[in-house]
Amino acid sequence: MSIYTRKPRTPTLAIALLIKAIDTDYTLEPYHPVPIPGPDEALIRCVAVSLNPVDWQSKAYNFGITSLPWVDGRDTSGVIEAVGDNVSNFHIGDAVFTLTDYTNSHAGSYQEFFIAAASSIARIFSGMSFESAAAVLVAAITAAISLQRYMRISPGPSCSALGDERHWLLIWGGATSTGYMAIQLAKIYGLSVIAVASPANYEYLRQAGADVVLDRNKPDEALRRIREITRGKLRLAFDAVGPTTARLCASALCKEPGQPLPVLVALAGIPKDSRVKLFHNEPAFGSRLLQELTAYLAVGRLKPPRISVVSGGFEAVNLGLLRLRNKEISGQKLVIRAYETSHSRELRHDLGWL
Ligand SMILES: NC(=O)c1ccc[n+]([C@@H]2O[C@H](COP(=O)([O-])OP(=O)(O)OC[C@H]3O[C@@H](n4cnc5c(N)ncnc54)[C@H](OP(=O)(O)O)[C@@H]3O)[C@@H](O)[C@H]2O)c1
Repeated sequence: MSIYTRKPRTPTLAIALLIKAIDTDYTLEPYHPVPIPGPDEALIRCVAVSLNPVDWQSKAYNFGITSLPWVDGRDTSGVIEAVGDNVSNFHIGDAVFTLTDYTNSHAGSYQEFFIAAASSIARIFSGMSFESAAAVLVAAITAAISLQRYMRISPGPSCSALGDERHWLLIWGGATSTGYMAIQLAKIYGLSVIAVASPANYEYLRQAGADVVLDRNKPDEALRRIREITRGKLRLAFDAVGPTTARLCASALCKEPGQPLPVLVALAGIPKDSRVKLFHNEPAFGSRLLQELTAYLAVGRLKPPRISVVSGGFEAVNLGLLRLRNKEISGQKLVIRAYETSHSRELRHDLGWL
């Protein structure tokens, strides 16, 4: 159902946060050209965007930025503004969320209007806020790709193919957004989960389904408990923190001859090794994943990570990413509302929020 009673005018120039040089702050540009969607794309009016570590990492380490100025921002909700000729399943005014293509600056959602492939868009459903919708897909898609593609775990009862009577997955960084989504998906797929996090997040992770939670501040004790619980047979580990914890995960895995080969998925520390890019590189696979995840979200089997809204719109992104980089954020995702940007009175007016 369209959220518009009257379709607003689409400007040709709009606000964007630009990367003008590597490892510098974003600059707010009030008059950046609004992209034009291709035949299989939609133009989306940005409402909320979540802040992901990749946003500061790509800028700091110069990866994924193929030209300057560049627009980042991928995990987003908004309203369909226009659709390409081949798009029949979305209409102007639909409230949607998406994970846009990292390789395309026009798809960066730190701007008022951005484009997305129709296959990467899902409708926001009743009860889901724009802010929560913007916080879910990078984490959920990455977790799903890690489990399905790298660990060969699929939805349904196929976990029994692993051969153990209990199927343990170790998630180091359970309170990362990705870890939180991985815990929930692993439970849906029939695995048992050991999550390592700060004690302050234990309850949050237990509610997500973690069977065992262990203290990240006592890694030796955590390793001892992991070996005890899995009787030294751990086969699956997921690290969402960095090289040091990835090594801890590797040391917990079973390497006995004659046992199935262990699998470690390490998300961080190898910036150029992006798992999430499969979502766009294989559109049929990506679209199937999106359908699966939105079906779980719609019935509450999958819950978005906790969010904290940072006020100030696009102008708050630099500071928000600095807080992520400084590891000040625990067990939640930072989200900004595009319409809070001081220049975006027109957007607020068009959405009826002025
Ligand atoms: N390769 C890919 O395709 C891909 C995709 C998505 C994400 N990533 C990467 O994966 C990493 C996680 O991303 P995210 O957005 O999920 O992170 P996030 O939500 O920003 O992670 C913050 C959390 O990290 C946890 N943490 C920090 N140090 C820890 C440690 N030593 N042990 C356990 N937990 C620790 C903290 O947990 P506590 O508060 O409990 O201490 C904190 O809550 C980032 O480096 C990101 O770039 C890669």
